[in-house]
Amino acid sequence: MSKTFQRTLITSALPYANGPVHIGHLAGVYIPADIYARYLRLKGEEVLFIGGSDEHGVPIALKAKAEGITPQEIVDRYHRIIKKSFEAFGITFDIYSRTTSKIHHQTASAFFQKLYEKGEFIEKTSEQYYDEEAGQFLADRYITGECPHCGNKHAYGDQCETCGTALSPLDLVDPKSTISGSVPVLKETKHWYLPLDRHEAWLKKWILEDHKEWKSNVYGQCKSWLDMGLQPRAVSRDLDWGIPIPVEGGEGKVLYVWFDAPVGYISNTIEHSPDNWERWWKDKSTRLIHFIGKDNIVFHCIVFPAMLKADGTYILPENVPANEFLNLESDKISTSRNWAVWLHEYLEDFPEKQDVLRYVLTANAPETKDNDFTWKDFQARNNNELVAIFGNFVNRAMVLIHKYFEGNIPKRSDLSDSDRATLDEFKHMKRDLETCLDQFRFRDALKEAMNLARTGNKYLADTEPWKLAKTDIGRAATILNIAMQITANLAIAFESFLPFSSEKLKQMINKKDLTWNNLGSIDLLNAGHQLNQPELLFEKIEDEAIEKQIQKLQDTQKANRLNEP
Ligand code: MF3
Ligand code: ZN
Repeated sequence: MSKTFQRTLITSALPYANGPVHIGHLAGVYIPADIYARYLRLKGEEVLFIGGSDEHGVPIALKAKAEGITPQEIVDRYHRIIKKSFEAFGITFDIYSRTTSKIHHQTASAFFQKLYEKGEFIEKTSEQYYDEEAGQFLADRYITGECPHCGNKHAYGDQCETCGTALSPLDLVDPKSTISGSVPVLKETKHWYLPLDRHEAWLKKWILEDHKEWKSNVYGQCKSWLDMGLQPRAVSRDLDWGIPIPVEGGEGKVLYVWFDAPVGYISNTIEHSPDNWERWWKDKSTRLIHFIGKDNIVFHCIVFPAMLKADGTYILPENVPANEFLNLESDKISTSRNWAVWLHEYLEDFPEKQDVLRYVLTANAPETKDNDFTWKDFQARNNNELVAIFGNFVNRAMVLIHKYFEGNIPKRSDLSDSDRATLDEFKHMKRDLETCLDQFRFRDALKEAMNLARTGNKYLADTEPWKLAKTDIGRAATILNIAMQITANLAIAFESFLPFSSEKLKQMINKKDLTWNNLGSIDLLNAGHQLNQPELLFEKIEDEAIEKQIQKLQDTQKANRLNEP
């Protein structure tokens, strides 16, 4: 059931602007999304790649309170840091905007209003905790008390962090407001709900029957949600940080952050293309792909599609290639425990080594299960793969041509059996890479690209053109010509994974206009073509640099132990 599409709209989860971004974000969402966007552009397809910061929600309001500043100051600070990190790592968003923008407030508000007018919500009144001193309703996180399961005195209204149990504020023994410290009282409040139960039938068919090709981790999570039966979900909150509810009775209430944030994909599209944004969202020949982490699956596969369907004028996602989680040195990455490799800190310690991290995070991406990032593996992959295979091959070929042929591509004469065997190995390269990339199997695609470098490296080791240059210059010329065709292919194959290195490589071989369609060709650099001087693509990472990083993590562990309650 393959459909033809005219263009692809790629969205990547909007990160919360309550902290900087770390390797987990990059590995799970932004690198795969960027590889995919670059790949499609290289093929000449029409692509729009959307990013932005998610700036509402309770945690941001709480953080501001804790620091004694406004939520706007918090999100201004982190939006700037996050945006800069993405730029530095070469994530090629067509737009990176934010959910506090005026256009987003208007878009999300109008989205709610339309659903309200169409009768797509139900209203329910329930009793919720209210802080009489502060004069406001309390979000679950604003209430603490004793956990009924383990007796922890500091459990939150949504969860006990000691025993991990999910709670509701009413479960807490001796609840207290974190705002004033007073004892909250129960008070009636009205909210709007999206009745997901009304959408269950079509969602079941759409996902379980029509999208069997989705990744098994995604399909499986959707199936278990759908099998349990869907319930109405509140789309409003009693809170003063967010987008005001635009209808009667909405005073003092805002849109639930998970209602406004995905609409941010639409707002950012409008901001980018105010005059023709609709063809990205309302034309059936657009393929919509959401890149997310696994904690976002239900929102992108069930809730947001239900919102889009309730509106009735939007397309639905074609695929949602969610990833699992990346751990750090066997421990869950955590912003609050500072257990992370922050992108802005990485760049301070490893300046200009963006591609090394891009490589390691792709080679070890949590595509089918949780994976572990370790600094030893980072070093090994750099030294044994990028330096010893890819970098070494390119450098040897370039240096030899400068030494024996003044930097001009030498002429190729008759091919030997081993030349043919080598060339055969990359005949299917384009098709194989496309198969992987089209199925969002980026690790496998990267492996294919690295295998081509491996083939080149082995070819030079086996044929030893540096010896032949003294006895049979014609043979050396043929071998080095082939080595350079492989090099040009590597520049294309690696471009979406390692864009900085690929750029450098294209500069070295003095060939800028390579496109996806050139992949697999052995006539990319003509005899006589002048190469530029070789430079090293990668450099060895020494033990000291790695030990420093491991030490930094051990210091974090120590600090965390001292801070434990
Ligand atoms: N901020 C959310 C998170 O980090 C992701 C929001 S994705 C969007 O988990 F669709 F809502 F934008
Ligand atoms: Zn507990």
